[in-house]
Amino acid sequence: MPTQPAGAGKSSFGYIDGATLFRCLALRPDHVLLDLGCGAGNYTFAAADHIQAAGAIHAVDLWAEGVAALQTRARREGLHQIQTHAVDASKALPLNDDVVDVCLMATVLHDLVTDGTHKGALGEVARVLKPGGRLAVVEFEKEGGPPGPPRHIRLAPAEVAELLAAHGFTPAGQTGLSPHLYLALFDLKADTVERSAP
Ligand SMILES: C[S@@+](CC[C@H](N)C(=O)[O-])C[C@H]1O[C@@H](n2cnc3c(N)ncnc32)[C@H](O)[C@@H]1O
Repeated sequence: MPTQPAGAGKSSFGYIDGATLFRCLALRPDHVLLDLGCGAGNYTFAAADHIQAAGAIHAVDLWAEGVAALQTRARREGLHQIQTHAVDASKALPLNDDVVDVCLMATVLHDLVTDGTHKGALGEVARVLKPGGRLAVVEFEKEGGPPGPPRHIRLAPAEVAELLAAHGFTPAGQTGLSPHLYLALFDLKADTVERSAP
C-alpha cells in the first residue's frame, strides 16, 4: 500500500452544486453519516450544517495527513459531531453493524475499483448501514476532463449500479450535480446479509 493513496488531496466538492446534493441526501440533525474517502473533508464540513450533536459524521480516509488536518479543523470550529478515522475502508471500518443512516462516497469509488479494493469497502458499507439505509455515490461523468480522473477509470452510472447490486443495493434515483458530476442514490435492501469477510 503506498504511503499516500491515489486521490489524496483531490476534491470534487468545488465542481458540484451543493444545494442539489444536500437536498437529495435529505440529512436530518440526528442522522449518522459516513463520509467514506473524505479526503480533506470538504463534503464533511458541508454536511456539518445539516447534522448536529444528536447525530454523527464519521469521516474516514486512508490519507492520515488529511484526516489529521480535518480533525484539527473540526475541533477548532467546535464541530464535535465530526469523528475522524484514518483507516483503510476496504479492510475494516471502526463502526458497529447497522449504525449508519447515509453513506456518502464522493469521487472515491473509481479509485477503489482501480485499486481492486472496492469489494471489501462495499461489504463494509453494507455492514455498517442500517437496513434500508442509503448510499450516495458521486462520480465524474464518463467523458473527457479536466476536471476529473482519466476517462478509462471513470464509472458510468450503469457500472456503479452493477457493482453495488452485488452488495445488496438497489437504485433509488440519479441526478446531475454539474456538467461534470452525477449523484446516484442506492438503498440497502432490508434483508441484505452479504458482509465483508471476517
Ligand atoms: C478523489 S479523493 C475524494 C475526496 C473527497 N471525497 C472529496 O471529493 O472532497 C478520493 C479519496 O479516497 C481516499 N481513499 C482511497 N482509497 C481508500 C481506502 N481504501 N480507504 C479509505 N480512503 C480511501 C483517498 O485517500 C482520497 O482522499
